[in-house]
Amino acid sequence: MARDRLISTQRRGDDERVDTALRPRNLRELIGQRSLMERLHIAMEAAKGRGEPLEHILLDGPPGLGKTTLAHVIAKEMTGKGPRIASGPSLAKQADLMALLTTLETGDVLFIDEIHRLPRIVEEFLYPAMEDFRVDFTIEGGMSGRVVNFALKRFTLIGATTRAGMLTGAMRDRFGHSFHFEFYTTEELTEILRGSSKRLGVESREGALSEIALRSRGTPRVANRLLKRVRDYAQVRADGVLTSVVVAKALEIQQVDDLGLDELDRAFLTALVRTYSGGPAGIEALAATMGQERDTLEDLVEPYLLQIGFVIRTRAGRQATLRGCAHLGLPFHEPAVAERGSVVAGIFRGSRVDQAELYSEENLGGDESGSAV
Ligand SMILES: Nc1ncnc2c1ncn2[C@@H]1O[C@H](COP(=O)(O)OP(=O)(O)OP(=O)(O)O)[C@@H](O)[C@H]1O
Ligand SMILES: [Mg+2]
Repeated sequence: MARDRLISTQRRGDDERVDTALRPRNLRELIGQRSLMERLHIAMEAAKGRGEPLEHILLDGPPGLGKTTLAHVIAKEMTGKGPRIASGPSLAKQADLMALLTTLETGDVLFIDEIHRLPRIVEEFLYPAMEDFRVDFTIEGGMSGRVVNFALKRFTLIGATTRAGMLTGAMRDRFGHSFHFEFYTTEELTEILRGSSKRLGVESREGALSEIALRSRGTPRVANRLLKRVRDYAQVRADGVLTSVVVAKALEIQQVDDLGLDELDRAFLTALVRTYSGGPAGIEALAATMGQERDTLEDLVEPYLLQIGFVIRTRAGRQATLRGCAHLGLPFHEPAVAERGSVVAGIFRGSRVDQAELYSEENLGGDESGSAV
């Protein structure tokens, strides 16, 4: 089921083509991520002013928020051409990376996607390249390998990851800039959709695009995908023009609800409430109950449910909130056990913020062991 999700934030099927077709080409076309953009502008202007390449940049955030897009735009702005592209898993050995590094010209941008999946041996090989622009390459042969030191041109590495937590500290420290992507607001998504419909030649009436934006899980990739499905519906069942009513009908058929939740989100919350009395439940246990991979739940289901306050993460596991239960018409269970004597079960009727605070690291203390989270 996960792979076929209409609202999956992950790339699928023809997304590659759509992503490319609808991808903003320059900084002006990029919408949202304001604080990130401001810091990036300053860094780029400063580097340009000094006539130097940009320092290495780490981009992290959930899938579909624009990391690859931004890497392309940065390369274009700084060098007038696209980045050299590689991905963590594709760089299996030192020689793979070596082949890329030695062909880079001064100022070139090397983009490594999924950088948290670089094999350790390649990662360590990358350190001196990032820091001192040189590599110690081992040439195999004879009894033992011969180590040759190569000087590299001064390049900019842009690393992207959906799992910043999985990066080693050593890797993270070698980036001069670290930019975190946030989910987009409905207004920002509406604007992105306006641009996309123009490019796709889709006509829409007032309010239609914001209806799509509301169901897009804060994610431009999802927004663009929904737009295409709504366009199909409008073409076949209406006169081709998008209206709020057409959007609502089209997405109802696709079983995407008014908050952008689909079957998999509902299954997650239902399992949490029905099987684990609302939680706390460990992610492994939930994955087993649902017959899903843990990674699928962590990458594609949880981030948005956490974002909208339908689920909270505690040291003991995942917990359904009153809001989440109310949305799906599920019974709300008071959390059974407060982890600390001072935290009293029953004061959970508050807002999402109250609940988040209740379970913050600070309030829970740092000494619990055997966390199931
Ligand atoms: N700021 C933005 N403004 C307009 N469109 C955007 C923006 N960010 C992303 N998009 C759209 O969303 C699509 C997906 O973005 P992108 O491929 O860059 O995401 P990503 O963060 O690299 O995802 P993944 O983690 O899956 O690689 C883009 O092709 C583009 O159409
Ligand atoms: Mg990407």
